[in-house]
Amino acid sequence: MTQRFKDQVAVVTGAANGIGLGIAQRIASEGGKGAMWDIEASKLKDSVSAMEKEGRIVKGYLVDVSDEGQVQEACATVAQDFGKIDVLAHAAGIVGPTQIRVTDYPTHDFDQIYRVNLRGSFLVCKYVLPYMESNGYGRIVLIASIAGKEGNPMMAGYSATKAGVIGLVKGLGKEYAKDNITVNGIAPAVIKTPMNAATGPEQLKYMTAKIPMDRLGTVEETAALAAWVLSKEASFNTGFIFDLSGGRATY
Ligand SMILES: NC(=O)c1ccc[n+]([C@@H]2O[C@H](COP(=O)([O-])OP(=O)(O)OC[C@H]3O[C@@H](n4cnc5c(N)ncnc54)[C@H](O)[C@@H]3O)[C@@H](O)[C@H]2O)c1
Repeated sequence: MTQRFKDQVAVVTGAANGIGLGIAQRIASEGGKGAMWDIEASKLKDSVSAMEKEGRIVKGYLVDVSDEGQVQEACATVAQDFGKIDVLAHAAGIVGPTQIRVTDYPTHDFDQIYRVNLRGSFLVCKYVLPYMESNGYGRIVLIASIAGKEGNPMMAGYSATKAGVIGLVKGLGKEYAKDNITVNGIAPAVIKTPMNAATGPEQLKYMTAKIPMDRLGTVEETAALAAWVLSKEASFNTGFIFDLSGGRATY
């Protein structure tokens, strides 16, 4: 394994589980120090201690990414604990209601998915970026979704908020293009993670049937792409949404 993140500090959100955990493991296995953020206290504790047992340098932080005060404070604490922030991998997200027409979609659920998926993405960038600017270097990856590019029916909140994340990536990529800071996104189709347990079976069938490779993606495949985009090697890519869809995406 290469050591692309040696001497670097990475904030990884949604790091207790699924894609976030996979990215945290990959970065730490390549020499990076990991600040692992999540709201699930016990799962976070388990994931952090499992990685510590493997000799990784990681620390867990209980942070709700939709809460501005918590995000701001957590960034300051990470910078204090590790000295700087080089990398942000933002994977915290929720799926919200599925298999439901917009006319029946509860508005409070829409408000909640907006708060976590879109407002959370805005907040983590807003408060991490000053540390990257003062450091003169940064790599950001936001996990969007193919639902944001194509729009998945019967999950209005998820499709809309992930489209918002894509807009955020495109805008911020250009905003920081001359600052040695890149901001990119990844748009996965269905990846095998605990999140899918919250997706209705008909909805899951619809999404999986659209994948030409006829299988789900894996956390390891997602982490491999994220690690490249977050590495120094990816120096001429910004404001871009990378595909991870087994052939589903056509643009
Ligand atoms: N799994 C898929 O098929 C798939 C496809 C496309 C995009 N994505 C996106 O990838 C990201 C990761 O998804 P996953 O499949 O690993 O999901 P997951 O449910 O396995 O993990 C998400 C993690 O985010 C945490 N989280 C949720 N709300 C949070 C909050 N407010 N603050 C901090 N942490 C919070 C959860 O506790 C959990 O540990 C999400 O943004 C998701 O929308 C997933």
